Amino acid sequence: MGVPEQRLSTMVLVIGTGGSGLRAAIELAEAGIDVLAVGKRPKEDAHTSLAAGGINAALATMDPQDTWQQHAADTLRESYLLGDPRTTEIVARGAARGIDDLERYGMTFAREEDGRISQRFFGAHTFRRTAFAGDYTGLEIQRTLIRRASQLNVPILDGVYITRLLVHDGTVFGAYGFDLDSGRRHLIHADAVILAAGGHTRIWRRTSSRRDENTGDSFRLAVDAGARLRDPELVQFHPSGIIEPENAAGTLVSEAARGEGGILRNARGERFMGRYDPERMELSTRDRVALASYTEIKEGRGTPKGGVWLDVSHLPRQTIMNRLPRVYQTLLDLQMLDITRDPIEVAPTAHYSMGGVLVRPEDHSTDVQGLYAIGEAASGLHGANRLGGNSLIELLVYGRITGRAAAAYSESLTAQPRSAVAVAEARAEVDELLSADGPENVRALQRAVRNTMTEHAGVVRDEEGLRAGLADLEVIEKRMENVGVHPDIAGYQDLAHAFDLKAAVLAARATLEAALERRETRGCHNRSDYPDLDPELRVNLVWSPATGVTRESIAPVPEEIAQLMAEVSADGKLVE
Ligand code: FUM
Repeated sequence: MGVPEQRLSTMVLVIGTGGSGLRAAIELAEAGIDVLAVGKRPKEDAHTSLAAGGINAALATMDPQDTWQQHAADTLRESYLLGDPRTTEIVARGAARGIDDLERYGMTFAREEDGRISQRFFGAHTFRRTAFAGDYTGLEIQRTLIRRASQLNVPILDGVYITRLLVHDGTVFGAYGFDLDSGRRHLIHADAVILAAGGHTRIWRRTSSRRDENTGDSFRLAVDAGARLRDPELVQFHPSGIIEPENAAGTLVSEAARGEGGILRNARGERFMGRYDPERMELSTRDRVALASYTEIKEGRGTPKGGVWLDVSHLPRQTIMNRLPRVYQTLLDLQMLDITRDPIEVAPTAHYSMGGVLVRPEDHSTDVQGLYAIGEAASGLHGANRLGGNSLIELLVYGRITGRAAAAYSESLTAQPRSAVAVAEARAEVDELLSADGPENVRALQRAVRNTMTEHAGVVRDEEGLRAGLADLEVIEKRMENVGVHPDIAGYQDLAHAFDLKAAVLAARATLEAALERRETRGCHNRSDYPDLDPELRVNLVWSPATGVTRESIAPVPEEIAQLMAEVSADGKLVE
């Protein structure tokens, strides 16, 4: 093995150093609990830093009528009733506290002249409740959390790839991994593990995630440890990803662009949202705007490069500079396009895993004792359509709750389980890949997974396509038996890609199998062969390799919240 394995031990191990992981680590450190956070990317560049337009809380700074109950009602209504009502209540009730925590850590929010936190409209919210920092909200949050974690001396290891959770008798006791630069192995013992390593949207070709993030790692780590996934088929396609250059296809143009008054047009210059959601137009929900754009493109009214136009050029230049600075910079950098003058060519992009690891609403614990999951790794809040701005608030609320729960669990243990067999298996898995010298290229196989998912499990799906996707996946799985893995002087990225590929294939299988079983159209999940919502399918689809897809019922919506769930006309939501 060369360099000796690095052995570390901590009370709570946090895997993932984006917003949710850092928030949990801060809670633990503030409570005096020994915590270690590890992430495969540099923490400054974790995926949270890409989150753009805002974070939701019913602060009522702009619209005094707003309440946490209305926030919960909007969230549940737009989840198409697949969101967990208890989870939703916890997030909506705890949201103002989440914003307070950020302010306590020194976060700078956009403010009105009198000092109130500004809040803007995001799609399908009843009131203005999205607080923001330009369209760099996630970046500001990430910086704030890093600063706070550093004040608390939270140890953070960047560039560590976790390959496996260590489990004995259904209880987690740590994790195994390697350093991406040196290849040095890490054996980390921990009482509890918080999994905050993101979702699986990088398994589509056009995605708002970068090459090595959201590759399904959380799903694989959790499932291999004995946890299950909930609703992996529910993936949010954001309406506005850029189309070119090819290597940045899917990069996000924030919903803030529509929130500030941006207009969508097809190649004929028609403001097409009038046909799909005449009441809410561009401020409709993401599932409906994405489907509308998809339909325009599919029916031949798309732009030459296969998109639609998103135009903000009619807005005052100052609005663009103050409220949409990242969109402005991104388009200049990537396309030399000045959005104050010209429209942006956009198309739907895989953006967010609304399904994820099955967790309990109270504390985000999983089926595995001592294992918790949060952020995009987890599921429960978003159901079949996530409201923009809800993911950032979710990670603050549940970062705090899960940190506390993991601390309490660790303190309640009288002994930590260990298993030499589990450690040996983790070592052997890395050894096996490192000695793999077959002709199949890992990166090419990752591309094959992305092609399959794009072709068969995109905005609109059907039985034939999903079955074809599963057949493709079998071929890919067979080819994976002959991969070659070649770390070089530059580092162990090729080994990381091989693990990413394993994760991608597992996430793809879960997604395709659950998408096949959801024989209805609901929110983001559009089945052209089942174009209607089926009330019988108001269930969560829970997946594991052993059981396949099973159904789990969802609690009723409390009356207090149900009363606030205004009917939204489905006119115009047509899946052809
Ligand atoms: O469009 C956006 O700014 C994305 C926000 C979100 O996904 O919550």
